Amino acid sequence: MISRWTVVVDRGNLAETEVLHDELPSGSDLSDCEVLLRVSRVGLTANNVTYGVIGDVLGYWNFFPAGGSGQGVVPVWGFADVVDSTVDALPTGTRVYGYLPMASHFVARARLTSSGFVDTADHRAELPAVYNSYLVTSSDPAYDANSEDLQVLYRPLFLTSFLLADQLVDNDFHGARTVVISSASSKTAFGTAQCLRGQGVRLVGLTSPRNVEFTKGLGLYDTVLPYDAAVDVEPSVYLDFSGSADVRSALHSRLGAELKKDVSIGLTHKTPSQDSRSEFFFAPDQLRKRTADWGSDGLAQRFGEAWRGFTAQAAGWVAVVQHHGPDELVEVWQAVLAGKANPDTADVISF
Ligand SMILES: NC(=O)c1ccc[n+]([C@@H]2O[C@H](COP(=O)([O-])OP(=O)(O)OC[C@H]3O[C@@H](n4cnc5c(N)ncnc54)[C@H](OP(=O)(O)O)[C@@H]3O)[C@@H](O)[C@H]2O)c1
Repeated sequence: MISRWTVVVDRGNLAETEVLHDELPSGSDLSDCEVLLRVSRVGLTANNVTYGVIGDVLGYWNFFPAGGSGQGVVPVWGFADVVDSTVDALPTGTRVYGYLPMASHFVARARLTSSGFVDTADHRAELPAVYNSYLVTSSDPAYDANSEDLQVLYRPLFLTSFLLADQLVDNDFHGARTVVISSASSKTAFGTAQCLRGQGVRLVGLTSPRNVEFTKGLGLYDTVLPYDAAVDVEPSVYLDFSGSADVRSALHSRLGAELKKDVSIGLTHKTPSQDSRSEFFFAPDQLRKRTADWGSDGLAQRFGEAWRGFTAQAAGWVAVVQHHGPDELVEVWQAVLAGKANPDTADVISF
């Protein structure tokens, strides 16, 4: 028997955590098409907190069901290794990248694809396909064994940055020539800024007073302002990563009709609110559109180019801090949840 740990959180109070221990099924208990994966290395950022904040609304608790009622397992992105398998093409030792539980192990029901497999477990059937796909590292052209840290931290975020920036370009910035970005110090926000540089728009970053210096230091925004400063009145698009109702209202009051588009992407301030003035960015829509426009290969080639440009700089902006084991994972979770994490460091946890 292999013992497994799982970090669960109280769905009503994400700061309440528990590390559960149980025994795993042995290889002979795996059903046809099942593989047992051991989680190896994951990243943890505000994006994972958002999975918890809107877990009930968007179904994020359903990926890795937790035992206790009212508890949930927060998904993280990272690498895992096959440690037992009923699938010949996925032998023990196969390393994959994808959506993982905060746990030492999990079982997937694998349907093979050209790049890896899809987990077809019943409880995941209704969930967005992008989260159910696992890439086998040995056949992933973007994989680089020396930059796993950058991949676990940035790859899920930068795809959104790339598609969001592309959607703006695709729509000629809705007639605006300034893009105002909140939570400008967040990785997804500054990844978007990096994609938008050189596209003929002025980039204005809004951030907390304590993060102004870091955000200026990125060199990606033309102007960086604390949240309470007034932006210039000019035709603008707002990209909201903070979810702050106050920041949104202040911008609408100041810009009026000059605010050409208000796009909601994130919730770093952890207060979900709906506002009919804002349009939710749904990355899979732009992904589908560009797959049709450019073909899968054309999209992969463009994304790959942008990704390489981004990762070449990312290590200089943010230092990676290494952690080990479930207890340190919980410590990082508490720090990120409380907003105590500094934007100039990013957390990777290995097991
Ligand atoms: N829709 C999508 O497809 C999609 C995809 C990826 C990410 N996102 C969203 O984008 C947002 C950024 O994610 P990320 O992983 O890039 O973040 P990150 O790098 O971990 O962001 C850290 C920044 O978020 C703000 N922040 C973090 N915790 C906070 C707290 N407790 N209270 C107030 N502010 C806090 C601070 O920025 P400031 O001081 O600058 O406000 C902080 O510097 C998340 O809400 C995420 O869910 C959405």
